[in-house]
Amino acid sequence: MTTETTLPDTTATAGTTAGNDEIRPPAEVRYAAELATLAAWDSERGHELPPGWRLSPRAVRAFVVGSDELGVSRKFYGDDPLVDRAVVSLMGRQGLMLVGEPGTAKSMLSELLSAAVSGSSTLTVQGTAGTTEDHVRYSWNYALLVSEGPSERSLVPSPICTGMREGRVVRFEEITRCAPEIQDTLVSILSEKQLMVPELGPDARVAARPGFTVIATANLKDRGVHEMSAALKRRFSFETVAPVRDRAFEIELVQRQLAAELGPEGDRPEVPRDVLEVLVTVFQDLRTGSTREGAPVKRPETVMSTAEAVNVAVAASLEARYLGDGTVTAAEVARQVAGVALKGEEEDARRLRHYVDNVVRERARTDARWKAFFTAAEPLWR
Ligand SMILES: Nc1ncnc2c1ncn2[C@@H]1O[C@H](COP(=O)(O)OP(=O)(O)OP(=O)(O)O)[C@@H](O)[C@H]1O
Ligand SMILES: [Mg+2]
Repeated sequence: MTTETTLPDTTATAGTTAGNDEIRPPAEVRYAAELATLAAWDSERGHELPPGWRLSPRAVRAFVVGSDELGVSRKFYGDDPLVDRAVVSLMGRQGLMLVGEPGTAKSMLSELLSAAVSGSSTLTVQGTAGTTEDHVRYSWNYALLVSEGPSERSLVPSPICTGMREGRVVRFEEITRCAPEIQDTLVSILSEKQLMVPELGPDARVAARPGFTVIATANLKDRGVHEMSAALKRRFSFETVAPVRDRAFEIELVQRQLAAELGPEGDRPEVPRDVLEVLVTVFQDLRTGSTREGAPVKRPETVMSTAEAVNVAVAASLEARYLGDGTVTAAEVARQVAGVALKGEEEDARRLRHYVDNVVRERARTDARWKAFFTAAEPLWR
């Protein structure tokens, strides 16, 4: 069903950063200006570029962690040495495997790195239980295959095939959701850097150009994921992406993401810093299982990731704007946290309630923000 033509156009006020009507343009479009600045910086300073790269490793790092001097925004928070190591592994022979809990910005990091290194982040294989070898290697345009037989024209390259030919970074999302035999298709590609195409002749092959590599992401916590074979593991260097620990950093991150998703302040309800502080504190308490004062907290099964904290902040802003009076308070946050954390799990509802009944109630005695949170959260379980 399409309703495009009958609905009023609200995209202009929803505030996309790219100025077109795509919900989320790829990183190289969203940050085109920053990428151009960094390329200019490279040539001005004469930085050396690894073969096939669009930017120098220094510029790639600056793109991800930001540079005040160059006016480049920070995008990934928390672990700068990890970014350095990731950039170094992209120059090496192995692929880069980003593993970690859900919502720790593994996909975001892989998108940013490929946008910076290759100028595009769209060569992506989305791993699912239904991913086949064809998705990893190549397939055929059957109409052409029938009419003219196997040929260059009838071959449909996979993103990996294209990345090899063009010397670009390819992203492989959620690789552990693919069956092991599909994951293993990558083994020979990564070690031999070539892909045989026997249908086009005994020696026909796609050879990888410099600049080709794979950034894979895997969420090791979810159910229904497959083991990785030792052979595949050897082809990758692994980096574990951890949740952001620093509260001030997480607050800044949520603020930035709010601006990225809902537009600059002025176009949307302001989320006061002290409300963000409540939000981030709730997430950190429930994520770590302990308050800052050291009191134990029952951790929900649901991962209280930073990505979810951003979702709550966005939802609270939308609630305030469209259903409330335009001010975001801890009350909107409380209502949205309940929705995020529960995910229909009774046990998690009990844990959150325990947190509200104990920790939040105590804080509410002396702090008006926590009182607003408590008053809004309390009736949710009555
Ligand atoms: N360290 C961080 N720096 C910046 N943003 C972060 C960070 N951690 C989480 N985020 C937020 O999380 C959002 C989504 O993260 P992303 O989808 O990349 O996570 P993921 O690790 O791939 O999760 P999943 O395992 O569920 O696929 C980002 O867009 C950002 O808002
Ligand atoms: Mg992901």
